Amino acid sequence: MASEISQAVLLVGGEGTRLRPLTYRRPKALVPLLNEPLLSYEFRLLARYGIADVILAVGYRADSLRNSLGDGSRWGVRLTYVEDPQPLGTAGGIGNVGELLRGDFVAMNGDLVYDVDLGAVLEAHTDFGATVTYCLRRVADVSRYGLIRCDDDGRVQAFLEKRAVDETGRNTVNSGLYVMSPEVLDFIPVATTYSNELELFPGLLAAGRPLLGHVPAHQGYWADVGTLDSYLETSCDLLGGAVPWMTATIADDAVVDASARLVGPVHLGPGVHVGPDAVIGPDVTLGPNCTVGAGASICRSLLWEQVTVGAGANLQNVVIADNVTLPAHANHNGGVICP
Ligand code: GDD
Ligand code: MG
Repeated sequence: MASEISQAVLLVGGEGTRLRPLTYRRPKALVPLLNEPLLSYEFRLLARYGIADVILAVGYRADSLRNSLGDGSRWGVRLTYVEDPQPLGTAGGIGNVGELLRGDFVAMNGDLVYDVDLGAVLEAHTDFGATVTYCLRRVADVSRYGLIRCDDDGRVQAFLEKRAVDETGRNTVNSGLYVMSPEVLDFIPVATTYSNELELFPGLLAAGRPLLGHVPAHQGYWADVGTLDSYLETSCDLLGGAVPWMTATIADDAVVDASARLVGPVHLGPGVHVGPDAVIGPDVTLGPNCTVGAGASICRSLLWEQVTVGAGANLQNVVIADNVTLPAHANHNGGVICP
């Protein structure tokens, strides 16, 4: 049976501090992966499950988000933008869009690449009659995430945000995707900075609300693109086919010299030009209109738009922002290069 849940709230108001200096150029939700904005991966997921009414809780660089994502129709969703008057935190951002919500809704952190059976999560939520259902993930290192401890029936018992270890060894963490009843709005103070993880969720638990932790039977791909390392790693995972609905391609009008070598996986955007004897790959994305000079070699790297790489340059493990020009024989291993 199709779910009746048709709305989602995506939290995209953060400053993306751990992705600086890239987030001085583009807000985190817009950093590209396979030349598509990070947030579009959430749109595609939601659209596949019939959730087309998507409300963006924006703050930092709201105008660039509006200009770049538009009405969302490219990805099969209808976007509404609601701006935090000041940074309201993760719960405050949801409270601020409350008037637009018509029933139960999906809420997501806005920095995820997620391939999850959302239908099963929605069904579990409805069957349990939960106020909030938490989509959980088992991870080896819990320290970057919010631990959520549940009993054997999935009823949440404790929220332990960013602890070093889980003594129980269960290691189920908050994946940043929730299904919520509008009842949560009664627990979020108006126009006040308020945190999901530290205030709202423990408050709901203390009030005895039914909270469900759901571990999907099929653990598809999941990444929180919060740091420079995880950004590059996610890029490589996607190039390798981690998400079946997004694949690496070579644009029709990319020009690759006959003596150059592409070592897959690589993803080349429109207008790319690769010169003689260059070696591109493995694990490389070249953004629209990038130019690579003769004899240059690039592996495990991500170049945004209009980057020019000089002849004989050697690049590994780097992310290069828009409009950078690197001289001939430039040599970089690791880090971020901005103009
Ligand atoms: N509107 C709005 N206003 N959005 C905000 C604000 C705000 O003041 N502050 C942060 N956000 C958005 C960010 O843009 C991001 O998409 C999302 O909230 C989560 O913030 P992060 O800074 O990425 O949190 P995290 O990755 O450290 O931890 C969270 O995600 C983990 C899973 O990826 C927590 O929810 C953890 O419990 C969780 O395990
Ligand atoms: Mg995050």
